[in-house]
Order: sequence, then C-alpha cells, then structure tokens
Amino acid sequence: MTEIINLLADYFMNITESIKYIGVNDKTLDLFEGQYQVPNGVSYNSYIIIDEKIAVMDTVDIRKTEEWLDNIEIALCGRIPDYLVVSHMEPDHSASLKAFIQKYPSTVVVGNDKTFNIADRFFGDIFKNKHIVKDGDELSLGKHTLKFVFAPMVHWPEVMFSYEPTEKVLFSADAFGKFGALDCDEDWTCEARRYYFNIVGKYGATVQSVLKKAAALDINIICPLHGPVLTENLEYYIGKYNVWSSYQPEDSGVMIAYASIYGNTRAAAEALAERLRENGVKVAMADLARDDMAEALEDAFRYDRLVVASITYDGAILPAMTDFINHLKLKNYQSRTVAFIENGSWAPMAAKLMRSSFEEMKNIEFIDKTVIVKSAMSAETENDIKELAARLIK
Ligand code: FEO
Repeated sequence: MTEIINLLADYFMNITESIKYIGVNDKTLDLFEGQYQVPNGVSYNSYIIIDEKIAVMDTVDIRKTEEWLDNIEIALCGRIPDYLVVSHMEPDHSASLKAFIQKYPSTVVVGNDKTFNIADRFFGDIFKNKHIVKDGDELSLGKHTLKFVFAPMVHWPEVMFSYEPTEKVLFSADAFGKFGALDCDEDWTCEARRYYFNIVGKYGATVQSVLKKAAALDINIICPLHGPVLTENLEYYIGKYNVWSSYQPEDSGVMIAYASIYGNTRAAAEALAERLRENGVKVAMADLARDDMAEALEDAFRYDRLVVASITYDGAILPAMTDFINHLKLKNYQSRTVAFIENGSWAPMAAKLMRSSFEEMKNIEFIDKTVIVKSAMSAETENDIKELAARLIK
C-alpha cells in the first residue's frame, strides 16, 4: 500500500524535491470572477512543502474541493499537514478552507489579522487552530522556513507572499498568475497581461511597493496561485510586472476601439487602421459590442496610443463604449495619448463626451484632430483620417 501511495505521490509535479504542486485545473468555468472569459480554463494552484512539518499553501475554488483534497491525501503519504498557509482570501483560493478544516481539524491555519477578519465573514468562527503572522515573521518547517512578505492590495488587503530561502521559492499569491489551465499550450505574456490589467490593474502603486520588497529576495522559482510555476528567465516576468504596474506602455502601437451600429463608424476605424499599418505602425482593434472587453482593456494598456470611435446615440455614446471607458477608469488608465472618431447623423457629440471622461484620467495627452463621420464615410472623412493617421504617427 505504501508503495502505491509513494508512486501516486510521484505523480505530482515536483517544484523541488520537497515542494510539490497539488493544485487543480478548471476547464468548465464559464466566467472567472463572474466576468472574464477563460477559453482555456484556469488553474487554482496549491502547493505542499514536505519537511519535519508539512505546510499546505492555499486551498482552491469550491468547484474543485474534492479533487484538491484527494491530491493532498496522496501527497501526504499518510501524514497530517501541520500548517495551511492562506495567502489570499478570495474564494477562488479560500473556498475549500472549511472542507479542509473538517478533514484536518488539528492543522494550524496561518494568516494575518486581515486574513482572519475576512475569513470569519466568509465562514464564521471556525478557526480554532490559527497562527497570526506579521509582515516579516518566519515559520520554521524544519529545513525549510517560510518568511511572510505582506502584499496588501495586490489585490485584496490581506494578501501576503511567502518566501522560502532554502530553495529560493517565492509563493506570490495572484501576482505573476495568468488565465489558462496548466495543460494548455499558450503564451504566458498575453494571458498574464489580460489577467493583470483586469484583476490587479487598479493597484499599480501597491504592486510597485511589493516589487521593491521582492527585489531584496534571492528568487529562483515563483509559485503563483494561477498559471505555470516560473523557473527560468525570472527577470522577464518581473520586468513585465514592473512595466505594467508603473502604467508605462509596453509597446509602441495604436489600439483602436470602436462602437458602431451600422458599420460606418467601424469603416472609419478600419480605414485609420489600414493607413497606420501601411506606415508600419502596430495596430490592435476591438469591436466593443462583440469582442472580449477584458482583451480590449489589455490592449489599451499595452500600447502607447488609443483611438476611441463611437456613434452618437441618444445624445450620448453607445453603451459598449461607455462600458469600455468605465473599465479604463476603474483600472486607473493613464499616461497614454488618446484621439477620437465620432459619428452622428444630425448632432454628433460622441467625441466631446468621450473626451470629458478621459480628462478625468491622469496624464492623458489628446490629439487635437477629431475625425467626424457624418453618417457615412466621405471624401472629407478620408482626409480627416489621413490627417489623424499622420498625427498619430508623428
Ligand atoms: Fe485568484 Fe484574487 O484571486
């Protein structure tokens, strides 16, 4: 029996000899956080550190409790976990806490004051064995030690990283995570960027603070709560987080986001895109009524220039555009160049309305050339587009 258990234990991905991956993939979730499309699913990562004392690092979403508990049981090889470390109380990582405590009532749950404040709200007073840590505290497991590095507002107030210095492993909570189950073969950057800006994007300043703290650590491996364990080229991932959280554009290019009813506003947006591409400018486009809003937002942050194009509708702008601009505001969009295309058959006013929203954002530079489409494209519109393209290129 022991041999079988040991064979099964070997089945889990070894991060190091003592640290194993015991997380789960979820490929049936329709919307992550109730709003984000995850065409390739998502992983809820959890890890176990086997030493004189055993620590389980985080739980998983309620949808996968049983599978995760099975993983733990196999990885434990008959032992009982001494600690469960809670890095983050958002339910995609904490919802299995109650089931875990029921199964392992003697295990000590490790978190900070804020962890348990939030946990009590979710679960009531079920935490009989708890260990409250402060920023910088350490917990010895034997050969391994966990040092707690608080990461408040990345992106909840109780978030904390754990650093294990013997093997130089950083357990980074949501930071460096991405959408996508672990068995899907896709680029890290694209889905990590979409994840970052939509979930953490508002909190750039706090991410910057935590990156400064992390810079003092010697890190060989990053174990996030979603997506792959990062073992090589860590400066690339940390560099991306530094750019994203400082709100600097990542790439030179133009994002064109449009909201069109009959296709005339779209035609203007496409004509502008064509002209820009002819001149070697990288262009991303989104039809805001149809395309993934989270990806449109990601591209707006990725590039240094943004063109928003909307029909005038009910004396306002089309709701899809309002939604997009609200998303940008919510995520602290700033430090970019913005231009406008508006359409209106009798009283176009979309550009004025869109501009007033961007004026509330920080460090936005406007291009004082607005393309006005009066119902449909005309020679005059073509000339305006040429001029706007020239201004964007300059
Ligand atoms: Fe992956 Fe903020 O939870």
